Amino acid sequence: MFWSASAFAKSFMPVQGSTFASGVDDLYKFLLGASLISCVLVIGGMVYFAFKYRRKTNTDKTAYIAHSAILEFLWSFIPFLIFMGSFVWGWIVYHDLRTAPKDAFEVHVIGQKWNWDFQYKSGRKTSGEVYVPVGKPVRFIMSSRDVIHSFYIPAFRTKQDVVPGRYTALWFEADKVGEFQVFCAEYCGTSHSQMLAKIHVLPQEKFDEWLQNDPYKGLSNLDIGQTIFAQKCTACHNATTENKVGPGLQGVFGKNREFEGAASLVADENYLRESILNPAAKVVKGFPNGMTPFQGQLSEQELLGLIEYIKSLQ
Ligand code: HEC
Repeated sequence: MFWSASAFAKSFMPVQGSTFASGVDDLYKFLLGASLISCVLVIGGMVYFAFKYRRKTNTDKTAYIAHSAILEFLWSFIPFLIFMGSFVWGWIVYHDLRTAPKDAFEVHVIGQKWNWDFQYKSGRKTSGEVYVPVGKPVRFIMSSRDVIHSFYIPAFRTKQDVVPGRYTALWFEADKVGEFQVFCAEYCGTSHSQMLAKIHVLPQEKFDEWLQNDPYKGLSNLDIGQTIFAQKCTACHNATTENKVGPGLQGVFGKNREFEGAASLVADENYLRESILNPAAKVVKGFPNGMTPFQGQLSEQELLGLIEYIKSLQ
């Protein structure tokens, strides 16, 4: 049972994870409630009057009704007040969403088909997962490597387009520790629906600890390669022989490769390196030139790891 309008609304709104969530929800509830009441008044009135004033006999005459200035004024002025009220209310909420505090903690976000990368000022980088402190304003400065994406965190009630060739930003202050889902909200091709990420909101001390960690400590190059592959490549490649958007990568190393408009060759380390950093240089026969170049995005260690990993897929 729903005991109140707000319990009812909560049942279909996503969880609230940021300081603006309740403000956005209140505005939504008002708009929903106002629309519902207007709908009942207008449709209900229409049905009632159609019935009440229907023609009852063949000799019925339409009554002569002159206009009523006061009535006309009221039905214009009351909606005007409601609309202006929602405009001002919406403006206040939106202004809050768009104005980041000066001391916000900044993280760079890069979207590409089909994953999200995050870069911290400390040099720490992640893919598909972003960690932020609770109770502190965080500002994401975002851009895209290929097409327009949109960074959307329903629980934080915020969303922003991510555009190639320029920076856009969004900010939030998470008010609970937990894990929240990120979606891409701008259709960006085949695996758009899988362009997901998780936001982990941590207590400040845990976050500081996380930021200092070396994510690759104790991992072999092969392990690093496998991790990066799972984060950045599986949207388009299988680690088997089965093709996806790009070729299945099992058994590619050491095999003869054929290209669109380039001489064939046997895949060695140099070929793998070039295929990752500058895929357009040699486009595998039967596939589109559809891989976003990874030039400048992978450290030498990560690149080595990926090459090791692809070599291991025999
Ligand atoms: C947006 C989709 C996409 C992503 C993401 C992607 N690739 Fe590709 N990849 C392709 C396509 C399409 C081709 C085939 C066309 C070409 O050769 O450029 C390809 C080709 C390749 C080849 C050559 C394969 C062969 O059969 O000779 C390698 C190696 C490769 N990718 C590695 C990677 C690695 C490693 C990653 C992750 C760091 C990655 N790709 C991410 C789409 C993608």
